[in-house]
This record gives sequence, structure tokens and C-alpha cells, in this order.
Amino acid sequence: MSGVNKNIVILISGGGSNMAALVKAAQQGRWSERFGARVACVISNRAEAAGLLLARRQGIDTAVLEHKNFATRAAFDAALMSEIDRHAPVLVLLAGFMRILTPGLVAHYDGRLLNIHPSLLPAFPGLHTHRRAIDMGCKFAGASVHRVTAEVDQGELLDQAVVPVLPDDTPDALAARVLTQEHLMYPRVVEGLLARMD
Ligand code: GAR
Repeated sequence: MSGVNKNIVILISGGGSNMAALVKAAQQGRWSERFGARVACVISNRAEAAGLLLARRQGIDTAVLEHKNFATRAAFDAALMSEIDRHAPVLVLLAGFMRILTPGLVAHYDGRLLNIHPSLLPAFPGLHTHRRAIDMGCKFAGASVHRVTAEVDQGELLDQAVVPVLPDDTPDALAARVLTQEHLMYPRVVEGLLARMD
């Protein structure tokens, strides 16, 4: 592998634990040596996202684009695309990025855009997945990594992880159990995709 030319851009809105798991996997799995890949930038739509600090501590370039400063969703997405495209990424990874994307943005990154969602899709797209799974009496919950399409949480599933729902589970307890699996699954999926790229 000559040179590091496969840039990955990660989009976050909050804690950034999935982003941190991806960065750690890139380091420990020697993605730059093996695939010529690196996490080039972490972008947040919220300045106070704790994940920004985690990324900076790892020496990763960060950018903040606050959606509230844009008059329309389309204007925000246009600015977001410009910021992402500075890195010419092979993959754009949504990692707790809590924004609905315009069809134009989704089309622009066709084949390069992935998301992780905290439910066993197609069950429970959208928000409050853990509360809804508990309220439905689900015995199993989990997370899904999927390709992003214009319909929210509907794209092709690339992998899923399953955890039990325990008696007396709270949404927070279930979320924590699911999150530990997210941190294993998302890097595994990305590594598999990188390994198959030219
Ligand atoms: C994760 O559980 C992720 O699956 C979820 O937000 C959390 C982010 O945590 N994503 C969504 O709900 C997307 N609709 P993190 O910031 O610690 O990675």
C-alpha cells in the first residue's frame, strides 16, 4: 500500500463513543498501513458535542457546523457537503449524527454513506428505540449498520448485533448494553469494506 489516500469522515452530534471506537480500531488495526485509510476529520453539528474533544485529543482534525445557524435544511446540507468534500472521503460515517439528511446529500455520497442505528431495523426506526423496544415487550434488541438512503433508517443492512432485553431493563441500561455491541460492530463493518476496496 503506497500512501494514505482513503479518507474517512465521521459525523457526530454528541458523545462520540462510536467515533472513538472507530478511531481506536483504525489505530489498533493499522488501517493506514493495511488499507491506506485514516480518519481524516470529525464533523459535529453541535459545538458542545463531547466527541469533538475526544477526536482532538487523538490529533484528528475537527470541524463544527451548527445547523441552527442555517435558515434551511438544504443550506445546512450544502455547507456540510463542502466541508466533507474537502477531504474527498471514500467513506462518510454517521455516528450518532442526529440530523435528517436531504436526498441531495444522500445522493452525493451514494455508496459511501453509512449509519449506525440503535435497533434491529426494520424495527424501530427513528428516536427512542430502547424505550419503544421495552414497551413492546421485545425479548431482544440491538443495533444495525446500514447504508443511508433518502428514507430514514431504511437502507440495506450491512450487519446487526443482538442483545437480550432483561427483566426490569430501563432504556438507559438497555442502551448501554447495545452500545458495547455498536462499538464492536461499526469498526468491523468499516474494516470489511476497506478490505474490499481497490
Ligand atoms: C448510538 O447509540 C447510535 O447508535 C445512536 O446514537 C448513539 C450515539 O452515541 N444513533 C442514532 O440514534 C441515529 N439515529 P455516541 O455519540 O456515543 O456514538
